[in-house]
Amino acid sequence: MDQLLSELKAIEDKFRADIDSIVKQQELENIRVKLLGKKGEITSIMKNMGRLSDEDKPKLGQAANKTRQFVEQTIAEKQAELTAKAEQTKIASEMIDISMPGKAVKVGGSHPLTLMSDEICDTFIGLGYTIAEGPDVELDLFNFEMLRLPKGHPARDEQDTFYLDYENGVLLRSQTSPVQIRVMNQQKPPIYIVCPGRVYRSDAVDATHSPIFHQIEGLAVDENLSMTDLVAALELFARRLFGKETRIRLRPHHFPFTEPSCEVDISCWTCGGDDPNCKTCRGEGYIEILGGGMVHPEVLENCGIDSKKYTGFAFGIGVERVAMGRYDVTDIRNFYENDLRFLEQFSK
Ligand code: DAH
Repeated sequence: MDQLLSELKAIEDKFRADIDSIVKQQELENIRVKLLGKKGEITSIMKNMGRLSDEDKPKLGQAANKTRQFVEQTIAEKQAELTAKAEQTKIASEMIDISMPGKAVKVGGSHPLTLMSDEICDTFIGLGYTIAEGPDVELDLFNFEMLRLPKGHPARDEQDTFYLDYENGVLLRSQTSPVQIRVMNQQKPPIYIVCPGRVYRSDAVDATHSPIFHQIEGLAVDENLSMTDLVAALELFARRLFGKETRIRLRPHHFPFTEPSCEVDISCWTCGGDDPNCKTCRGEGYIEILGGGMVHPEVLENCGIDSKKYTGFAFGIGVERVAMGRYDVTDIRNFYENDLRFLEQFSK
């Protein structure tokens, strides 16, 4: 009897020692089966009951029941504890920190030269012009020849460009003027077009020059067009872009494809023409922004348009130059270096 009681005690002691280190439900179940199962240790001790005296039977019974109850209760508590812990871990792992800042999606924007070009074109679209485009890889014939710049003409020097096939006269266009030829070859007047695009020249890079830049060509061919129509269109364009007070000034010039030709200046966007010490216009009061004139009758005839019946005016705007003025950019290279700190200032 005593031996059974001390076995019981040893079982209980071992159980006490083991229970603390249990961390899994399965281990708990194993220990329950080991002690209380059909072949469990406590169950086996109870099986000795038959061999005992009537006096010892209830003693062992009591002691065994106490141990069993203690084991059952402890296991139940441990079970609750493990379940609670598992729940905590699950909650912690699924927790969303709503105080964390979100990840902003970066949205791109149009390049400043695109914005500028679109804005200029929009002004003319408002006057009834449509957009026409030509290829960057152009024929010498359209870029020079038909614009009255034959081989050897000194005005070609200023527009030396990159030849892809010199023999066959294939080059990167040095101006958007060849689009005039392409359109006039295919359409009959009235023609009112603007042609935005990239042009190429073998210029060295500095703060105001780039071998690749952008122009917008304008062309109007109709009956009874005169220089006053050109002035009106350009004045409207200048005011729309640089403000109502802007004035334009025409200076005589020479372009082989227009006659008469002019260079067009606008009153300084910084000082309005009033400050002799202005850094933007260097005291000039005016800034040159484009070239233009009345389309030379020979150019019209080159394209099969009757120059007795029709007249036309044309102009070419440098997009970079206007954008630099408009956005107060002092170095043309900023446009091409893809520095986001620069470009982001223009995204809407
Ligand atoms: N194509 C000329 C240039 O790049 C600019 C120009 C001048 C265009 C007069 C024209 C024009 O249409 O009439 O220098």
